[in-house]
Amino acid sequence: MTSKLFSPYTMRGLTLENRIVLSPMCQYAGEDGRATDWHIMHLGQYACSNIGLIITEACGVEPKGRISPWCIGLYNDETEEALARVIRFCKAQSDTKFGVQLAHAGRKSSVTPSFMIREAVPPEKGGWIPHSPSPYSDGVHPDPKAMEIEDIEEVKAAWVASTKRAARIGVDLIEMHFAHGYLVNEFTSPLINRREDQYGGSLENRMRFGLEIFKACRAAFPPDKPMGARISAVDWVEGGWTIEDSVIFSRELKALGCDYICTSSGGVSLHQKITAGPGYQVPFADRVRRESGVATMAVGQITEPQQAEDILEAGQADMIALGRRLLANPRWAWMAAVHFQQFLKYPPRYRVCHPKMGTKLNFTDTTEKKQQLLHMFQQEQETTVKAWG
Ligand SMILES: Cc1cc2nc3c(=O)[nH]c(=O)nc-3n(C[C@H](O)[C@H](O)[C@H](O)COP(=O)(O)O)c2cc1C
Repeated sequence: MTSKLFSPYTMRGLTLENRIVLSPMCQYAGEDGRATDWHIMHLGQYACSNIGLIITEACGVEPKGRISPWCIGLYNDETEEALARVIRFCKAQSDTKFGVQLAHAGRKSSVTPSFMIREAVPPEKGGWIPHSPSPYSDGVHPDPKAMEIEDIEEVKAAWVASTKRAARIGVDLIEMHFAHGYLVNEFTSPLINRREDQYGGSLENRMRFGLEIFKACRAAFPPDKPMGARISAVDWVEGGWTIEDSVIFSRELKALGCDYICTSSGGVSLHQKITAGPGYQVPFADRVRRESGVATMAVGQITEPQQAEDILEAGQADMIALGRRLLANPRWAWMAAVHFQQFLKYPPRYRVCHPKMGTKLNFTDTTEKKQQLLHMFQQEQETTVKAWG
């Protein structure tokens, strides 16, 4: 049986084993911006589960670019080494590829974790005054400081510095977080951006900040490694950012070397009216893919292997990101592989539960066990055989 979901996907010099992607998900388990043992456990399980691409949670490019004081970052030597440790662990388990999501949370930063009641964290409790393109108050997030040109330049430089750190620690791919009402999305959306300088007003001006960041970071990351962007395809608010704007933004990003667009949506305004349901953001991936000519990653309520396969088969997207479904079942890819009768190389320590092994575990003597293992080995790559020892 053939399966598009289990076919490799190549961007620049990177080939993913399959099209299944772990969607970035904040864990609120960092310490002063450093990834911790939790991240080794959390991301490590996906490195042992044949996920084609792991993408980290949003990593702040500066301390106040984190969503909360418990979020991780990539902005100093300590945060760099902490993330490097996670990557080393993940890469030692398998050849799962590892991407980092670089982010700046803008006005929606300095809050409590999403699994608690969302509240502002004031500076005296370890928080900070968030930055935003324009003054804005929504009663939930702390009121931000409107950014001066110097602040804009500082954030761009921070983004480039994080990119260089990501390259240094062997990240395979960078995803720019330009979605969900965080800083770059605050610049693109007319609902937040009220600036009257070259960064506000027309669509061209509102896209400028994100495009400048992308261009500078692309130049700072090895040319054989891919770089994509996650955008909110629509604001879900009358008078907000539209899918037509997304097609234009994606085209501009592609011209700067963007390898894929992940089409999420919403997050800019508390007045959003989202029509959610299974695969509800897939039409955005489809439209951006067809009209801007850039590869897309579909995300949002994609839960079933056949659903994922159908999206790829229909040419609506090139990769499928799963969030909550992978939290619930990190071995989703194994289940999907059985569904499509695909042969996966399980990590050696888990090989005993491989479906090919399941019926063959009644050894009568060690010679028979040896023969069966050898038979398995022959079906797999040389490297896996070595890892078994
Ligand atoms: C706990 C949690 C944390 C999240 N953190 C991030 C994040 O750091 N960056 C991001 O772009 N999206 C984040 N998201 C959104 C997910 O990546 C994904 O787009 C969303 O959950 C929809 O996909 P799903 O229906 O497969 O879960 C988060 C979602 C959850 C549930």
